[in-house]
Amino acid sequence: MKTVPKNIHPEFARHLDRAQKEALLKQCGKVVWLYGLSGSGKSTIANALEKRLHAEGLHTVVLDADNVRTGLNRDLGFSDDERCENIRRAAETARLFLDVGVIVLTAFITPKRELRELARGIIGADDFFEIFVKCSYETCARRDVKGLYAKSRAGEIKSFTGRDSTFEEPDNPDLLLDTEGQSLAECLESLYAQIIPALRPD
Ligand code: ADX
Repeated sequence: MKTVPKNIHPEFARHLDRAQKEALLKQCGKVVWLYGLSGSGKSTIANALEKRLHAEGLHTVVLDADNVRTGLNRDLGFSDDERCENIRRAAETARLFLDVGVIVLTAFITPKRELRELARGIIGADDFFEIFVKCSYETCARRDVKGLYAKSRAGEIKSFTGRDSTFEEPDNPDLLLDTEGQSLAECLESLYAQIIPALRPD
């Protein structure tokens, strides 16, 4: 249950409810929370999934860390507290989309269990798919698409996830996508199969 700040009087009940908006869109809003190391493949999977869902007439939005961190979260860095605030705002944003029936695909490292729990708590367990995009630090560092692993080795980036800031592997994600062992097409197929029954109204 959310705590309401003092002197604030939310009136969510006056809005049209979510079911009416979902009926208009002919879909069910859900949040697909992809998390894993930088370079593990979260954004690639989110973007490919979005194209596929869009082609099937489903309304989606992608919340991608690097984009969100250039706008809404541009004031945040990578300390534990800032990562927590980053995930809190991302989850609240996802929740706004969810409430109008949109399917939200997110790509944030979300390195700690408590951050995944924070997101789940804001969104609600029934609407939350926790998808671990698994790839070893060594492979992400070899891919190094953004050149950040090299910078972190050179000491140019502090608190880099997996190097000097912890990434906690999950115990029990809804789905694990192993981007070292599976192709993008295979990852996409298993993710699609996992979520599609929840996206279409009965
Ligand atoms: S999170 O830990 O708060 O979930 P988030 O996913 O938003 O991280 O941001 C990660 C992205 O920021 C990475 O993909 C990378 O492009 C960039 N980045 C910049 N500095 C760091 C850092 N110190 N650790 C991890 N990612 C970083």
